[in-house]
Amino acid sequence: MLNTGLAALIANISDKPARYAELITQWRAVTDGESDLIANLANTTALVRTALPQASWVGFYIMRQGELVLGPYQGNVACVRITLDRGVCGAAARTKAVQLVPDVEQFPGHIACDAGSRSEVVVPVMRDGEVVAVLDVDSYDLAAFDQQDADGLTEVARCCAELAGW
Ligand code: SME
Repeated sequence: MLNTGLAALIANISDKPARYAELITQWRAVTDGESDLIANLANTTALVRTALPQASWVGFYIMRQGELVLGPYQGNVACVRITLDRGVCGAAARTKAVQLVPDVEQFPGHIACDAGSRSEVVVPVMRDGEVVAVLDVDSYDLAAFDQQDADGLTEVARCCAELAGW
């Protein structure tokens, strides 16, 4: 079981690859032996938000019958359903590629669930070549995320793809 004091220390690791490596270690500790998908995704959002203090919102949208539906998250109330032709989340699911958006106002079709949102990164969760969910991380700061965040969150998504219950 995870020591929550230790979890809070992740954000103090200034080297980003090391911070994500620690995040994955802690993720394995909290998900180990647990088969409930919702519980594991919920703890994933808590860990990511703790690791990324610049994040205003961290959450999953889960693919249900060709549409993204709000899943476990941390942050303000958010849009519930996103079709694949809309927004940064829709683009990530449609293209199966990470979307790193330094300025959401420059992204055509961005969905402003929270008018304060300025930048975001969305990573597809892929299982057997199909998108089963996306992991969406938003910030009130411009260009709050970089390629190292995209790479680290891709690793988090890869781990989540292996969870039971999809
Ligand atoms: N930013 C997303 C919408 C989801 S909310 O920000 C939580 C998008 O444009 O896809």
